Amino acid sequence: MYKLIAFDAYGTLFDVYSVGQLAEALFPGHGQALALMWRDRQIEYTRLVTMSDPSPNGSKYYLPFWELTIRSLRYVCQRMNLNLSAEYEKRLMDQYAKLTSFEDSLNVLKSIKEKGISTAILSNGSREMLSKVVESNGLKHYLDKVVTIEDVRLFKTAPQAYELLLKAFPVKKEEILFVSSNAWDALAAKWFGFDVFWVNRMAHPFEEIGHRPDYEGNSLGQVLKVI
Ligand code: LAC
Repeated sequence: MYKLIAFDAYGTLFDVYSVGQLAEALFPGHGQALALMWRDRQIEYTRLVTMSDPSPNGSKYYLPFWELTIRSLRYVCQRMNLNLSAEYEKRLMDQYAKLTSFEDSLNVLKSIKEKGISTAILSNGSREMLSKVVESNGLKHYLDKVVTIEDVRLFKTAPQAYELLLKAFPVKKEEILFVSSNAWDALAAKWFGFDVFWVNRMAHPFEEIGHRPDYEGNSLGQVLKVI
């Protein structure tokens, strides 16, 4: 029934855990909190940029996701009174650039392609950072397209960001299954009108607003059961 399975990137196909591990090695006792606050601030910045100028031509406050990731790291280190040297910043960002995919990512994409269904990434990520991480994990061959919000300069959860999938593929809304491990992303994609699979690896509660996802599973592999 689905003609396109579209995946979120960070946290869904690519494991951001190693960033927390490195943060812990650099700032013992603070790694977990830093990683969590870093991620929250990064997403917060995407929302600030988008909501403050949700213009059809893109936000005039737009900065690439890579840049917002650096700025949010700097903010959080200041907030936590951690001394982020240029060397530490580079090491953390290098780690971000070479994230590994979850062990089932490649097989899931491959199995979907074997069924004759299209695959894509839809991410807030910058084009360059996405293409590096896709290539270094050997996923390129199994993805029809890597769609980035760079084209609209509005981050998810702007509807224009989800709409990019409809522009990139000749499919109808209801023929798309959107897969994300970020509950907020799953919720907004559902609001936009996609069927949604929420990858809930950590047994977290779903958001307390909006619609529950159509499907939920504790690994990417479970996506294969619903297509
Ligand atoms: C993405 C982040 C938000 O890949 O996970 O879009």
